[in-house]
Amino acid sequence: MIDLKPIVISGKEVLPLIEGGKGINASNGFSSGAWAKENCVGTFSAVSPDFYDENGNPAAQTIHSKNRVERHEEMVQYAIKGGIAQAQVAHEISNGNGRIHMNMLWELADSERILENVLEKTKGLIHGVTCGAGLPYRLGELASKFGVYYYPIVSSARAFQILWKRAYSKFTEFLGGVVYEDPWLAGGHNGLSNAENPNEPQKPYNRLVELRQVLNKFNLSNIPIIIAGGVWNLDEWKDYINNPEIGKVAFQFGTRPMITKESPVSQAWQKVMMQVKKGDVILQKFSPTGFFSSAIKNSFLEKLINRKNGEVPFSKELDDTYTYPLKINDSKTVYIKSEDAEKANNQINAGFTSIQETPDATLVFITPEEAKQMKIDRANCVGCLSQCQFSSWSKADGSTGKLPDPRSYCIHKTLFDVGHNGSVKDNLLFAGHHVYRFATDPLYQKGVPSVKELIATILTGK
Ligand SMILES: Cc1cc2nc3c(=O)[nH]c(=O)nc-3n(C[C@H](O)[C@H](O)[C@H](O)COP(=O)(O)O)c2cc1C
Ligand code: SF4
Repeated sequence: MIDLKPIVISGKEVLPLIEGGKGINASNGFSSGAWAKENCVGTFSAVSPDFYDENGNPAAQTIHSKNRVERHEEMVQYAIKGGIAQAQVAHEISNGNGRIHMNMLWELADSERILENVLEKTKGLIHGVTCGAGLPYRLGELASKFGVYYYPIVSSARAFQILWKRAYSKFTEFLGGVVYEDPWLAGGHNGLSNAENPNEPQKPYNRLVELRQVLNKFNLSNIPIIIAGGVWNLDEWKDYINNPEIGKVAFQFGTRPMITKESPVSQAWQKVMMQVKKGDVILQKFSPTGFFSSAIKNSFLEKLINRKNGEVPFSKELDDTYTYPLKINDSKTVYIKSEDAEKANNQINAGFTSIQETPDATLVFITPEEAKQMKIDRANCVGCLSQCQFSSWSKADGSTGKLPDPRSYCIHKTLFDVGHNGSVKDNLLFAGHHVYRFATDPLYQKGVPSVKELIATILTGK
């Protein structure tokens, strides 16, 4: 057994084991309630969560308006409804045990409004809010207003220091913990800074010690650090437990709970995860948020990788460097480098005849069908992000002022689809870099475990 003592999280003594929040619908009231029931912490995602019709089935989140601002408003109202519904489900399943947290993506347009509305209508049901993907400055203020604990997700001591100095030092009472998410290993979006190399992962130990030192400096030595990203067997984390250099810790599991009986993830998605091999998870920058993210290499991701590999720079004017004319549509010819001519023509000859400009003065080559689908996806945009590179939507100004980026994709569409039994080939499959361990982990060889069985196994160190 692992020597893991209960600690106080969000005002209650619980086992320091946390199910990480996963949008869209990859962690929900059913999964988080099951974690809480075992006296742990469950986190449901408040990104386009399900709500239910009169028969108890997930209601269709049909968007009616043709106008993007109105479509966005419809999405926000659904998200509020869904957040409330998931909190109720989680609370009921937990039977009053453990703690229920809600996860919010800060880069979501109107995340603050969704958070406020959900917390206002779920008093006593939600005990904590975790929030990452960006620097959630107002999280402390918003959560404190409702007497709910807050947990910023950071990937460095520096990020926490910025948040603390600028905002959280005024809201100390409800700072429940700090989630340290390993930016090289965690599933979903990754908080790599410009100074960090995606190809040169750093061990978490020194980074955690640094975070603890910063917390101590601000008199936060009692605040737990929640370690996330690449956590699988706690046997491997013995040096981090009861270690004064790191202090009070809890462990957050993102990928591992996805194969449990209570997980909302489809069987097809679970099957893919059972077969993934080491190295099949790619850390890349295609997300329309502009952040790095980690996902399983399937045909969806391969398409984006090939598109990116086929990219060539261009100039609107003929000059000494850009000498080869390329007609990109009926009315426009641009110039590429002569050494890129073969690369461009090979793609055109292979059927990638729709040539698209990117915001970085480059071209990518896609099929006419892909171009048509992109148009549809942009027309269906619900403005889910505060700024979107794929569609150029900006919540603040209507547009980012940049060209829509054909190297990206509509993250709302794909995550919603795969989170509701959609194709596991044609959608993005976020996953942590240790997902390959499912294939050989003895726990999964007899079938899908329950959350109870998973937690019991985790407690043995396995
Ligand atoms: C499918 C998937 C979706 C995720 N979505 C979110 C999210 O919406 N918000 C968030 O803060 N973290 C998200 N995460 C990160 C997890 O909460 C967790 O911190 C991370 O997966 C930990 O790393 P691990 O996968 O190695 O356990 C997601 C992770 C996965 C695998
Ligand atoms: S196009 Fe961008 S902002 Fe619009 S719904 Fe898709 S991901 Fe969200």
